[in-house]
Amino acid sequence: MNNTAPPKQESYMAVRPTAFSVDQILSFDLYRSTGGQITLYRSRDYPFTRDDLQQLIESGCNKLYVPESQRNLFYDHTRRRLPRLLKDESVPLEEKLEILSETSVNILGRMLDNPMSSEEVSGVVSQCRNHVRLAFIGDKARNTMVTNRAQAPFPIAHAVSVANLALVLGMDCSVAGADQLHELGIGALLHEIGKSQLDRDYYYQPESCKLRNDPRMEQYPQVGRDMLKRTELVPPGALLAVAEHRERLDGSGFPAKLKDAEISHAGRIVAICDYYDERVNGADRQTPATPFEALSEMKQAKEKFDPAILMRLVEILGRVSKN
Ligand SMILES: [Fe+2]
Repeated sequence: MNNTAPPKQESYMAVRPTAFSVDQILSFDLYRSTGGQITLYRSRDYPFTRDDLQQLIESGCNKLYVPESQRNLFYDHTRRRLPRLLKDESVPLEEKLEILSETSVNILGRMLDNPMSSEEVSGVVSQCRNHVRLAFIGDKARNTMVTNRAQAPFPIAHAVSVANLALVLGMDCSVAGADQLHELGIGALLHEIGKSQLDRDYYYQPESCKLRNDPRMEQYPQVGRDMLKRTELVPPGALLAVAEHRERLDGSGFPAKLKDAEISHAGRIVAICDYYDERVNGADRQTPATPFEALSEMKQAKEKFDPAILMRLVEILGRVSKN
């Protein structure tokens, strides 16, 4: 334990003790709030031990702090730990999902700063495996994935929510096998990435996005698919979901005005998840819809959305609301 005062002017992010591997050397400084003061708890290059974790749990401490300047080091550490953390039955489900969401938000943010970087794209692709791992834990995990929302600006929180919802819906709609689900999840997570190429403001200040209502924005699914394809790191099923999530069964969608069977299963699933989350949690906060309203709108537009997939979503949301 070390009570050295932290550097002045530093800002901190709160993190959960369960996000750490025990008996492992940390590559970032770890602080704790003591009597309202942030004090150094473990120095970098110092192991975080089982005794530390036990002591934190016994003292009721559920938050530690990492300097913002060491954010990426912390998230790299968490990413390596995630597969084991998801299996750890002593960690509450909600905590697993929150750590997963926070890590995905960080990884997506890094990719947005560097959209064609192999390292960042493969980071998103591999992170999506963790979302699939969580979905396979069981019904309770899947219900939590449907209800949880990442704390992040709308476009990034939306991407994570659409991915979680698409995985749960995909499992209910015969998307069998971890690999197929993985492709669906990547497509859902990156479905709007093309918008960042057309106007970077979209992800950072969606309200002031210059192209928000511009017809050129309708090219974003194609732009997203093309840029991801160039990286050669994104599997074909994911590319289809990105390209086709704004297509509609009656041919009224965009960018290719595909119809009926021309639209892939993955494209149909992401279309429904995207519409639902956009209406319920959308950037247009003045007129958010209730879940019932969003589902009713899609039911009324039955010529546009796949009715069998939509019915599964209604069942999933009904199940979640009863629990
Ligand atoms: Fe979207």
